[in-house]
Amino acid sequence: MRYAIIAALIAAPTLSLAGPAEDTVAARQGYFKLVGANMGALAGMAKGKIEYDAAAAQTAADNLVTLTKYDLTHLFAPGTSSSDMKDTRALAKIWDDFPGVQDKAGAFASAAAEMQTLAGQGKAEMTSALGTLGGACKGCHDNYRAD
Ligand code: HEC
Repeated sequence: MRYAIIAALIAAPTLSLAGPAEDTVAARQGYFKLVGANMGALAGMAKGKIEYDAAAAQTAADNLVTLTKYDLTHLFAPGTSSSDMKDTRALAKIWDDFPGVQDKAGAFASAAAEMQTLAGQGKAEMTSALGTLGGACKGCHDNYRAD
C-alpha cells in the first residue's frame, strides 16, 4: 500500500501549493481537526458516550483511511514550525527528521486500515482496534508536536 502521507512529508521541500504561512498552519490544523473528529466519534462509542452504531463507526474509520491518503505536502511547508511562528505546535524536528515522521505516519496509516476492517463489525471489535490507533496518534504527538 502506498501511504501518501509519507510521500508528502518526504517531498515537502518541493512545494507547489504553498501559500502564506498562516494559511498553511490553519489548513494543517484543519486537517488534524478532521482526524480528531473521526477519532473522537470512535473513542466516544468505545467509552459509551455515544451509542455504538456500525454504520457511523465504519464511516469514521473510512474517513480516517481517506485522510491517511491525503497529500500533506503543502501543509508542511518550510518555515511553518513552532520555531518559526506562533500558534502552531508543529515542532521544527519534523523538518529535521522526515524518516522519523515517516515511521509515525506509517503506523497511523496501518492502524487506520486495521480500524477500517473492524469498525463496522461490532463495538468490541471496533474497541479492540482503538488502542493501536490511539497509540499511533500519541507516537507522533509525543515526538513531533509541542505540548
Ligand atoms: C505523523 C504525525 C502525526 C500523527 C500520526 C497524528 N498527528 Fe495529530 N498532530 C500532529 C501535528 C504535527 C500537530 C500540530 C499541528 C499544528 O499545530 O500546526 C497535530 C495536531 C493535532 C490536533 C490539534 C489540531 C488543532 O486544532 O490545532 C488534533 C486534534 C490531532 N492532532 C489529532 C490526532 C489524532 C486523533 C491522531 C490519530 C488518529 C493524530 N492526530 C495523528 C501530528 C500527527
